[in-house]
Amino acid sequence: MARLFFEAVSKHFDQAVAVEDLNLEVEDGELLVLLGPSGCGKTTALRMVAGLEDATSGSIWIGDRIVNDVEPKDRDVAMVFQSYALYPHMTVAKNIEFPLRQRGVEPSQRQRMVRETAETLGLSSLLDRRPGQLSGGQRQRVALARAIVRSPQAFLMDEPLSNLDATLRTQTRADIVTLQQRLGTTTLYVTHDQVEAMTMGHRIAVMNAGVLQQVARPQEIYEWPANVFVAGFIGNPGMNLLAGEVGGDGARALRMEAGALAIPEQMLLSPGAKVVAGFRPETVAIDPDGGVGASVSIVELLGSEVHVVATVGSSRVVVRQELSQPRPAIGAAIRLRIDERAVHFFDAATGERIAGPGGTASKEVRW
Ligand SMILES: Nc1ncnc2c1ncn2[C@@H]1O[C@H](COP(=O)(O)OP(=O)(O)O)[C@@H](O)[C@H]1O
Ligand SMILES: [Mg+2]
Repeated sequence: MARLFFEAVSKHFDQAVAVEDLNLEVEDGELLVLLGPSGCGKTTALRMVAGLEDATSGSIWIGDRIVNDVEPKDRDVAMVFQSYALYPHMTVAKNIEFPLRQRGVEPSQRQRMVRETAETLGLSSLLDRRPGQLSGGQRQRVALARAIVRSPQAFLMDEPLSNLDATLRTQTRADIVTLQQRLGTTTLYVTHDQVEAMTMGHRIAVMNAGVLQQVARPQEIYEWPANVFVAGFIGNPGMNLLAGEVGGDGARALRMEAGALAIPEQMLLSPGAKVVAGFRPETVAIDPDGGVGASVSIVELLGSEVHVVATVGSSRVVVRQELSQPRPAIGAAIRLRIDERAVHFFDAATGERIAGPGGTASKEVRW
């Protein structure tokens, strides 16, 4: 086992920036989730650790050595891909055995290790099958088995669950967490799925457009997003974001395009400051006495709750309702009451968090 460390790592493809000045440590034994939208540089970051991509600048550390110039096969990390990448002509047993063969482990020991690993992953009865005779979930378990069989220093997983259906995804998610906990192997897990990130990660590193946005425990990311991007990205749906200017009533109100919002005493915002107010869908309600005017554009029934999507000036606000609450008609003019104690404020120019419930989050914490 070993820590992984990106030290000022950048990767440029010609003019395109895939990863920019990444400083990130995955601690020894930690499962860190690298989360961000498609194209933000997650796979590139992972491939640089595996040695499948060279860094343009900066140092990649595995344990106490810089590995930029170390061959992929000598880095002692195991990768699990979205596509499983199994050898179709080999049996499950041979697939799992493959990395041991490559390393010259002697046959009787190989057999034992394959048996034990197959048992760990519930694959014992499938050892003689070929990948084509397995379900997607079973294939991914074989890929996991192949990764863990030789006890590498770290696991690198690139969206390993994205080809599975929803039920299997939930189950395999839990399996990976349990396995990682048991083995205690340092793991860098890449996904665009925030539910995976929230449920699996000891910590989450959020990336956007090649730039690291925040690293923190899942709950901290949710409660204290460091900037507008993280606020809008995390949550299902993410935070509502409305721009405004601090003014009026001794800087105790935010003037917005479609209304006003009281600013609680303890939030120290300068008069005239241009800010973005962020609030979660459960902290805003439809109320004739609300301070913000809106019109209803979509009403979504989600089984256990209702999402009312409203247009506020040039923005969009989602209101989460109980099933029992009256549902507005599409196109209806409504007013929104935002719970001001739950509002986060971000600098409109930089997007950085200024104030909010629970104070300012530390940008980086130990897990
Ligand atoms: N081999 C490559 N050549 C050129 N551009 C690439 C290459 N690989 C990735 N990119 C670009 O780098 C950016 C990051 O890609 P990637 O790391 O695959 O993102 P993610 O895994 O987060 O979806 C994207 O803009 C992508 O188009
Ligand atoms: Mg990717």
